[in-house]
Amino acid sequence: MIDFRPFYQQIATSSLSAWLETLPLQLKQWEKSAHGDYAKWAKIVDFLPNRTACINLADKVEARLDTPLSEGEMQRLVYHLKQLMPWRKGPYHLHGVHIDCEWRSDFKWDRVLPHLAPLKDRTILDVGCGSGYHMWRMVGEGAKMVVGIDPTELFLCQFEVVRKLLNNDRRANLIPLGIEQMQPLHAFDTVFSMGVLYHRKSPLDHLSQLKNQLVKGGELVLETLVIDGDVNDVLVPADRYAKMKNVYFIPSVPALINWLEKVGFKNVRCVDQAVTTLEEQRKTDWLENESLIDFLDPKDLSKTIEGYPAPKRAVILANN
Ligand SMILES: C[S@@+](CC[C@H](N)C(=O)[O-])C[C@H]1O[C@@H](n2cnc3c(N)ncnc32)[C@H](O)[C@@H]1O
Repeated sequence: MIDFRPFYQQIATSSLSAWLETLPLQLKQWEKSAHGDYAKWAKIVDFLPNRTACINLADKVEARLDTPLSEGEMQRLVYHLKQLMPWRKGPYHLHGVHIDCEWRSDFKWDRVLPHLAPLKDRTILDVGCGSGYHMWRMVGEGAKMVVGIDPTELFLCQFEVVRKLLNNDRRANLIPLGIEQMQPLHAFDTVFSMGVLYHRKSPLDHLSQLKNQLVKGGELVLETLVIDGDVNDVLVPADRYAKMKNVYFIPSVPALINWLEKVGFKNVRCVDQAVTTLEEQRKTDWLENESLIDFLDPKDLSKTIEGYPAPKRAVILANN
């Protein structure tokens, strides 16, 4: 099982120390009700090779060995990594294996990074971090500490596997909770919420919860699905959106800016908008499921299969 004690030690003397009032008990309870396959997935970490690698997190997530793995070792590594499919966010280049995930998360990072207050020396929260691809890129930018929270146990185990192959780097940590379970810490210099807002039934509550984690003046980085339109336009899909059944609110950019200002954010600005391309989200050998091409209308790729506008995403920055 994954041991969170090193994380508790790490935060005990940091600005996050107040979290120790609630977190250890919450994680004890979480372990009792974790996904039925959690123990099996967590064990994969133990099977991985213990080799020291040369790490590159600045322009990709890569761990390179001086002496390559033997063919047998390589096959074993690929076998274990494939036990953790689907690999959604990446790519990762680890000990000679290229985990070609469904999403080119580096595309999103390239859209976001140029607009941010420098991440060097910052304490960062990544809400809905998935397997942690962007957290490693934040570490690559010189962040002091990066904490991700994501309630999906498979992603926790993928994160821990990647961590082990990155020489057990402890500058990033993933906590398997939802944002709504976090006590307000007012302690993070930057809070990311990327690809989460449209999954939340109560988007304004989500924005307030993000605000509650920021220091005064800290930066929020919000990335989410948007539609074209004015301040009163919000899409609430009747049933599914792009085959996803857990999509609740897709606002226009002016509506989203209004929501952020309503919950008290300042200096709210949209810095990027991009339609998701078939290069960014596609089927690979690292997932069995469908991908974007299957979610769009085959006769009109500007629409989802349900007839809604195809996925378009915006990056909004704001200050607490
Ligand atoms: C679409 S993915 C986005 C992953 C990554 N942030 C990115 O932008 O590529 C949404 C993630 O949010 C996580 N999530 C869902 N509900 C959440 C909650 N209440 N709190 C935090 N994360 C949540 C999911 O497990 C999933 O990994």
